[in-house]
Amino acid sequence: MTTTGDETQRRGAFTSRKVFILAAIGSAVGLGNIWRFPYVAYENGGGAFLIPYLIALLTAGLPFLLLDYAIGHRHRGSAPLSFARLHRRTEMLGWWQVGICFLIAIYYAAVIAWALRYTIFSVDQSWGEDPEGFLFGDFLQAGDPGVSTEVVLGVLVPLLLVWVAVLVIMSLGVEKGVGRLSLYLIPVLVIAFGALVLRAVTLDGAALGLDALFSPHWASLTEPSVWAAAFGQIFFSLSIGFGIMITYASYVDRRSDMTGSGLVVGFANSGFELLAGIGVFAALGFMAQAQGVAVDEVATQGLGLAFVVFPALISEAPAGALIGVLFFGSLVIAGLTSLVSVIEVVISAVRDKFELSRLTASLAVGGPAAIISLVLFSTTSGVYVLDIVDHFINQYGILLVAVVSMLVVAWALRALPGLAAHLNRFGSLRLDRTWFALIGLLAPLALAYVLVDAFVTDLQTPYEGYPSWMLNVLGWGSAVAVIAFGALATLVPWRQETSLTVADDDADPLTKETGR
Ligand code: PHE
Repeated sequence: MTTTGDETQRRGAFTSRKVFILAAIGSAVGLGNIWRFPYVAYENGGGAFLIPYLIALLTAGLPFLLLDYAIGHRHRGSAPLSFARLHRRTEMLGWWQVGICFLIAIYYAAVIAWALRYTIFSVDQSWGEDPEGFLFGDFLQAGDPGVSTEVVLGVLVPLLLVWVAVLVIMSLGVEKGVGRLSLYLIPVLVIAFGALVLRAVTLDGAALGLDALFSPHWASLTEPSVWAAAFGQIFFSLSIGFGIMITYASYVDRRSDMTGSGLVVGFANSGFELLAGIGVFAALGFMAQAQGVAVDEVATQGLGLAFVVFPALISEAPAGALIGVLFFGSLVIAGLTSLVSVIEVVISAVRDKFELSRLTASLAVGGPAAIISLVLFSTTSGVYVLDIVDHFINQYGILLVAVVSMLVVAWALRALPGLAAHLNRFGSLRLDRTWFALIGLLAPLALAYVLVDAFVTDLQTPYEGYPSWMLNVLGWGSAVAVIAFGALATLVPWRQETSLTVADDDADPLTKETGR
């Protein structure tokens, strides 16, 4: 049996290749590009970092992106269904990714909500003289690390808004919801962020920041940790190993050039990342000059960069309100298009398994996600939960499942030739032995190194000095929980109508071999 037009209609589909590419870029370009890349590059060799970064992109990032595409596009299902069609026993990998995505969605939404609030705070610089005190005190009302039940209205309201928007988008479906959102918002993001970068590079002191970012430290190239950082950044940034790209690719027309699309998405994402590096460091240069300190005293990443350093900078810079609205607005847009992509992984999996309507599945997944997210993050302990879960799930969730799936697909199933043949049919870039070697050997080795390195560090020093019960429960706990969830979900039987032998068109002789 092949997938029919009816099936396409039931599952949903992107209306064109352009919409798919924009949605994939929307997923890839996220907080990681804006607040993670600039600092990772700066810390790991500056200008010289671009070499490991490019190598990581070409040898592991793009090849793995194409693997995700091949699995989803050929097997035309959500992550669990596609993996089940690849081989019955690999279904679990898909559910593992679904678990990861559910967790990420819960805290990613909170960051978007904060950015939404800060877009408005920017107008009158509500944080006053002390942005850090304001963030933890007035805004988040964070107490000591621990768990609390006190509700913070200032977070609750924007977070509720984010979830309502997400539920509406998800209910509208692949074409009208996710597709349209990216079609409209990605151009807005490019314009807003482009304007921000232009403003930033014309600030006094911008050159100082760019110097700090791009001065190459060639010696770093001999440090393994620098290469590890490059591979880690590429994987997170391209949204690979989350099941997102499998899911999105399953909504693309069979005759589409997937390898060509992959190149566009990969380079667009890295292009955006570089642009973010320029914008952020130009702004940091201004800040350092204004305060008469060195750039490394103001340079940081993540929450600290967005919600502490940028507010200070906005207060100081001419036309600061404009910078603030552009910066936080960009975070909201980049974040939202990534958030819908992780939720779609969960929704499509649930739909495939239980044959639910779009609306029912959106509510069944989005409702509980929203409630958990609201409970966890509109209370005063939210920020610590977020920080810990984020750290652990990125390493021992995404990276781990990526390594395992590459090894399983390449070695246990020996499925790479079939997948390559599928992509080569309509693809503009031919995949051959080089691709097999990259996926079967180089990429998993590189990632395994990153993982072990992180693991050793986490064992030796408790992450950010949090109490160990918190790290055990929230950190290691969530990494293990998503695996357990993956195994359990696999026990639920597929509906009788769901064919696990559906793979590619009948014409593809390889279908029969792998579709057991
Ligand atoms: N590529 C995304 C980013 O840079 C990673 C991501 C995707 C994170 C979806 C969360 C959700 O932020």
